[in-house]
Amino acid sequence: MYRAGQTEIDAVGQVIRSHAFFRYREKSECERFEKRWAKHLGAGHACITSSGSTALTAALAGLGVGPGQEVIVPAYTYMATAIAVLAVGAIPVIVDVDESLTMSPLALAEAIGPRTKAVIPVHMVGLPCDMGKIMRIARKRKLWVIEDACQAVGGGYEGKMLGAIGDAGTFSFNAFKNITCGEGGAVVSSDEQVAQRARCMTDCCGFYWRGRSADTKAFVAAGARASEIQGAMLNVQLDRLPGMLRAMRGQKKTLLRKTAKSGLAPSPCHSLDYECGTQVGYLLGSQGAAVKFGAMAGGFIPGKTGRHVYTEWDPILEKHGAHHPAMDPFKMPANRRCRMKYSKDMCPRSLDVLNRTVLVPTHPDRTPEAVDGLIVKIKEAAKAVL
Ligand SMILES: Cc1ncc(COP(=O)(O)O)c(C=O)c1O
Repeated sequence: MYRAGQTEIDAVGQVIRSHAFFRYREKSECERFEKRWAKHLGAGHACITSSGSTALTAALAGLGVGPGQEVIVPAYTYMATAIAVLAVGAIPVIVDVDESLTMSPLALAEAIGPRTKAVIPVHMVGLPCDMGKIMRIARKRKLWVIEDACQAVGGGYEGKMLGAIGDAGTFSFNAFKNITCGEGGAVVSSDEQVAQRARCMTDCCGFYWRGRSADTKAFVAAGARASEIQGAMLNVQLDRLPGMLRAMRGQKKTLLRKTAKSGLAPSPCHSLDYECGTQVGYLLGSQGAAVKFGAMAGGFIPGKTGRHVYTEWDPILEKHGAHHPAMDPFKMPANRRCRMKYSKDMCPRSLDVLNRTVLVPTHPDRTPEAVDGLIVKIKEAAKAVL
């Protein structure tokens, strides 16, 4: 979250004053956000959820992914991506990321097996995946594509909005994301059936208020409905988003341009003109150099956050896939032919790249003088390690 203030207080205050917390009502804030978000992305349909995790589960359920199927996920993502696959009864297959810190299209192509049904490219730290290549592979091999844009809310790829390129897209609005309502998320799809199923997954009792649909049968699902407080805050946050991203994108380009002769190797980006611009990546020659450079330049090492690499996904590595053994996808007969061998050393290439990269965050409120100061720090850090 970058900005929040009086406008959010006023919008949330209005909901509290009116005592209208439930989303199914006239002039619903949630519904207004859903319409605006779908339009902003060019995505057809949007459904606001209680979190990014529930958005991912709803997207997978929306597409009908379930037991007997594998879903490919990258080695670098928050564990929620892989957990969502298990939450619908399928099995996550973990593949390498490349120097861009996003899913390697080559690793994806090599990992597709007879039971692979879908792929979740994750646009980590605001960086878009190579969606051109990923979509070509997915279409050729008949895989559903669910974009995890939880960390790239509002970003784009070559003129298209992230989340609106694949068959479904997912977003998180938790406290660490580009826009926030405390906790929240959204799922989008241009396919009405998928969107309706995702809605059912999010609020399976919702048909009492939304009305029954002739073509989509309601099914039982755990609830993940958002409140009007979330909707009201998101409507204000959405107004702020384009300006903030423009500022960060511009700042990233300035930092890259002004450090171009420092000898540093910037991490490859798939869509510099459209991405979020929230981080500037540099790939260092060794882990030691990355540690020293990161400390001096004020950056962080993506492999060392303690929660974004597959090696930290304890319940998955230990194959505890559900609260009850009978509901554990790792133990389901339907999944017995799915690949489910995980080990901490299974993606050495990802670990190497993630531990040699340093990400320097941008900020929309950084002054030109502060940007100049950061450039000096990066150059000094470069001199110390190159
Ligand atoms: C890449 C990614 N996917 C999914 C999620 C899950 O989102 P939430 O925390 O809103 O459930 C996160 C959250 O940080 C994330 O970073």
